[in-house]
Amino acid sequence: MRVTKIKLLNFRNYQRAEFSFSPGANIIVGKNAQGKTNLLEAIFTCAIGKSMRAARDSEVILFGQENAKIELEVEKKFGKTKIEIYFLKNKKAIKINGLPIRRTGELLGELRCVFFSPDELKLIKESPEDRRRFMDISLSQISKVYFNILNKYDKIIRSRNKLIKDFKDKNSVKKSNLSTLNLEDFKRMISVYDVQLSDCAAKISLSRNNLVVSLAPYAKRAHEFLTDGAEELEIEYQTSFSVEASVLNGNEVVEKFKEKYLALYEKSLEKDLALGYTSVGPHRDDIKVLINKIDVKSFCSQGQQRTAALSLKLAELEIINKQTGEMPILILDDVLSELDGGRRTKLLKFCGSTQTFISSTDIPEKIKNSKIIRIRSGQEVRN
Ligand SMILES: Nc1ncnc2c1ncn2[C@@H]1O[C@H](COP(=O)(O)OP(=O)(O)O)[C@@H](O)[C@H]1O
Ligand SMILES: [Mg+2]
Repeated sequence: MRVTKIKLLNFRNYQRAEFSFSPGANIIVGKNAQGKTNLLEAIFTCAIGKSMRAARDSEVILFGQENAKIELEVEKKFGKTKIEIYFLKNKKAIKINGLPIRRTGELLGELRCVFFSPDELKLIKESPEDRRRFMDISLSQISKVYFNILNKYDKIIRSRNKLIKDFKDKNSVKKSNLSTLNLEDFKRMISVYDVQLSDCAAKISLSRNNLVVSLAPYAKRAHEFLTDGAEELEIEYQTSFSVEASVLNGNEVVEKFKEKYLALYEKSLEKDLALGYTSVGPHRDDIKVLINKIDVKSFCSQGQQRTAALSLKLAELEIINKQTGEMPILILDDVLSELDGGRRTKLLKFCGSTQTFISSTDIPEKIKNSKIIRIRSGQEVRN
């Protein structure tokens, strides 16, 4: 797929702007703080309905304005789609081909995108939450069903946690008149949640396992390519129980996973009551990342970690392609300056297979089929 154009209205530092893009590489060039990342952010937002960096949707509205709009056109194998996103102070509205959608989830798959920036180092370095986010964004772009199950799981976990916390608080106050719920009733209610949770957990976990297993050879190959064969990258999905590292399918596996999660939720109830939240389940999942059999997070250099993160993202590109039949777009925000010459050339070579958006403070070496877009103060500089 490829983005043909985008129109921005009061989006970040763009009052009114329109860009058209090359199907190959688009190099967004400009000094610092001119709006390069803002433009990439607008594109990314059309993929998942949310910015990669705004804590609140309304942050993207141009200072002093009431609303903002992004309008983007994407060409796919089977036709064109127009995506419109409206940002109001407390509300967001999305249209696909002129028709309003009810839930953000309906947008998924219209534009698929892999985003990489220096910030993505956290994918390797920081908490498991960043690696779960990586799996969830990939899988949600591949399957709306996954996205819906994930949201359902999230809702049930929050209800379960609330019930646990309420029960714990009331009991610790030790005023029996406050406690309207006895232990028996509490356990009965929890067990209803546990059954619903284990159903979602099984499906989430299976999808994540299959994603990581499928990503592994591509990530390994990308990493080998970027390091001239000097390093071997391995990734492994980790959940609350050990899972065979192969693609698993079928109802039987779902049932098996369900049983395992159910037993775990039941077993952890006492601990959960002491902690005040649900301590097991896919919301605690992680991906283990190894370079030459060594844990990347604790023992590898920043450079190695950055390359590992990049390899994961390049693998994501290929998996989305493989599973949806169409190459997603690739966004590289400010990463060229962080790579040494060799890796930079290699990365650019790798990008040749899909539409790419690259931001940079200077113009990189000649890239085939590329378009240079110069930005100054939220405007394209044409010459
Ligand atoms: N909501 C907003 N309204 C107006 N300007 C904004 C808004 N959010 C960010 N900016 C401005 O955008 C600029 C940064 O743009 P950015 O795209 O991150 O720069 P860069 O070109 O370095 O990637 C800053 O000057 C910042 O003040
Ligand atoms: Mg930037």
